[in-house]
This record gives sequence, C-alpha cells and structure tokens, in this order.
Amino acid sequence: MKSAPEMQNVRGVKIYPPKHKRVLKLLANESAPEIHGDKVWYSSYFIMDYLDAKPPQPKTRVLDIGCGWGALGIYCVKQFQSKVTGVDADKHVFPLLDLHAKLNNVNIAGKVSKYEDLKPEFLAKQQLIVGGDICFWDELVDPLHTLIKNALAAGVERIVIADPGRPPFLRLARRCRRLYKAKIKKVNISAPRRHDGYLLIIENTN
Ligand SMILES: C[S@@+](CC[C@H](N)C(=O)[O-])C[C@H]1O[C@@H](n2cnc3c(N)ncnc32)[C@H](O)[C@@H]1O
Repeated sequence: MKSAPEMQNVRGVKIYPPKHKRVLKLLANESAPEIHGDKVWYSSYFIMDYLDAKPPQPKTRVLDIGCGWGALGIYCVKQFQSKVTGVDADKHVFPLLDLHAKLNNVNIAGKVSKYEDLKPEFLAKQQLIVGGDICFWDELVDPLHTLIKNALAAGVERIVIADPGRPPFLRLARRCRRLYKAKIKKVNISAPRRHDGYLLIIENTN
C-alpha cells in the first residue's frame, strides 16, 4: 500500500504535495484550480536559485504573476523580507496560496487578474516581477508581452520568468531579447529533483 504523501521542505518553504490530506480536505470545500494551478511547478525553483545569486534588497515590492500556490512569493518573503502580491487569473488558487502562507507563517497579498489587465498605476508600485511556468499556451505570449511592456514603462526594475522551455515561452523570450535586450539563460536544478529549463531576465534600462 502507498504511504500518504508528506509535507515537503524545499529551500526553506514548506509545501504540501497535491495529494496531501490538508490539500484534499481544503478541496472538499473549495473548487479546484482550473488553469494548471494544481501544484507547485518546478520552474519556480529556477527563480529561487537565481534570486539567491542576485538577491533583491530587503522589503522589495514583488509581484508573483501566475502565482498558483504561491511558493515563489513565500520564498521571497522568507529569504529577502519582500512585500509580495500574488496575481492569478484563477480565483481558485487563492485558498491554496493562503493555506501555504499560513503554513509558512508569512503574509502574501492576493489579486485576481489576468496578466494583461494589470494597470500601469498598479505596476508602478512594483519593483520586481517574477513568474514560474506561466507562458505555456500560444495565446499567453501577447498578454505577457503586454504586461512586460507596461511594467517596463511603469518603472519596474527587473522581470524574471522561468520555464522548462515550452515553445510559447521561447517565443516570448526571443521577442524580449530583441526588443528589450533581455537575457535567456539555460539553468538546471538537482533538488527537489533534476530538471532543466530557462530563465528570461529583463533589466529595466530606462
Ligand atoms: C503552471 S501554473 C504555475 C503556478 C506557479 N507559478 C508555480 O510555479 O507553481 C500557471 C499559473 O498561471 C495562472 N494563469 C494562467 N493564465 C493566466 C493569465 N492569463 N493571467 C494570470 N494568471 C494566469 C494559472 O491559473 C496558474 O496558477
């Protein structure tokens, strides 16, 4: 018989596996996420490792876009004392984000919004935008480009997006390299298990 999945501690963030009894208990009363926000995706770990090497100042205002369960934002609060807002188009991810924020004893603000609907006034309040595994359909390329363009115009200092290397992400990444001199870096992690992927790093030079 398979043993029940246990809570994990990855890079100091406590995370429930999707079939953990606390997740199943919550989903017995709440609707399940509908746009793949059904676990913590490993691209977020690429960004955690990158931020360790290039850390934001303490109390930086961070937007975690397509935040899902919020592990990346939780890491930023714990590691860098960031002020984090998690943004997601799917309102059903937020009970799971709240569950993990509570488990990790941190505060994360939540905002239901599509990428392209984030207003310049709101973006102007942010310093760093991060997003793990958020450009997985062709129809997400233009909305994410709109967000990046608006964020750079609003003065956001740095944008870091990670992905295993799906074609829509690579299309977005190449467009940003051409238009904004963005960097595309091959990366890998060995924990919680071995994975390869890419970082898209956009520094605001305005
Ligand atoms: C593959 S999950 C990644 C979740 C999280 N970043 C992680 O690494 O665990 C993609 C997330 O993007 C959200 N999403 C999809 N399309 C979106 C859109 N147009 N605007 C905002 N969020 C979106 C989904 O609801 C989901 O939570």
